[in-house]
Amino acid sequence: MAIPDAFITGLPKAELHLHIEGSLEPEQMFDFARRNRIQIPFASVEELRAAYKFSQLQDFLDIYYRGADVLRTEADFHDLALAYFERAHADGVVHAEIFFDPQTHTDRGLPFQVVADGLLAGMTSAEARYGVTSSLILCFLRHLDEAAAFTTLQAAEPWLDRIAGVGLDSSEVGHPPSKFARVFAAAGSEGLKRVAHAGEEGPPEYVVEALDLLKIDRLDHGNRALESPELVTRLARNGMALTVCPLSNLKLCVVGDAADHPIPIMLKQGLRATINSDDPAYFGGYVADNYRAVAPYLEREDLITLARNSFLGSFLPDAAVTRHLSAIDAFAG
Ligand code: ADE
Ligand code: ZN
Repeated sequence: MAIPDAFITGLPKAELHLHIEGSLEPEQMFDFARRNRIQIPFASVEELRAAYKFSQLQDFLDIYYRGADVLRTEADFHDLALAYFERAHADGVVHAEIFFDPQTHTDRGLPFQVVADGLLAGMTSAEARYGVTSSLILCFLRHLDEAAAFTTLQAAEPWLDRIAGVGLDSSEVGHPPSKFARVFAAAGSEGLKRVAHAGEEGPPEYVVEALDLLKIDRLDHGNRALESPELVTRLARNGMALTVCPLSNLKLCVVGDAADHPIPIMLKQGLRATINSDDPAYFGGYVADNYRAVAPYLEREDLITLARNSFLGSFLPDAAVTRHLSAIDAFAG
């Protein structure tokens, strides 16, 4: 029997894999371009949306980095974050740990402060307005070098008490986790959590490097870990959370069809899989849309497990996790 949509949206959930720059909707891109007096090379929202056709990760990244150029002021980052939280709240998200890519902005001349203070202000507004709690994860762009990552970590120093962790994103193949072992070690010694995109397009060996060399606390995507039974056993045994993004996987041709999405297999193999939206403005939907995409291939119990996993895999304190798990029990009965 089909799972009612109200069950999907009403289920209390955390979002653990969301690039805030990837929540920039085409309408908002035009608004920001107008208020910052920037020309964008598209005549309309429809024309822009029509350009969102990707056959691999790099096709998307090229357009995503160009889109971020309309973000110029603290108010832009505040408004971007608040707009995301409005949508997330409507989807039943009660906590979000959001990625940001400081180098995308500092490399075009924006101070780190503009980005960080704007986002933090948006997160504060969202908590006051919607009751959604959140934290920030600073991602290093892996197509850039180790020295640039260290410079970014240094720029973040005054904000480290308000940043939960570091991550690794951008073009995966050719940029293995090993390239960032030292900067992740430095982040770890600052008390930051560590996460990394691995096994999205890259091989299972990159996931092993992320575990062994980056000492990750959570794995972003991880789809290709399924190619290695030993790795699956290791991830399951360690209770490693995987932040899986079904619509992203479809849009970037990591998976050909929703019916072939590995989330049911991941759950059967005992992996702590979670459902997330990655870059919702580019991939066709927010977190509930991602649950909807795979719900036809899952049982009601599986959706509850996915929501539970989102809190178990979060960086929230134990007491908050317990409270959220009780809320799921109360909702699902
Ligand atoms: N940056 C934003 N979205 C990403 C993704 N899905 N993979 C790698 N880098 C990203
Ligand atoms: Zn991502």
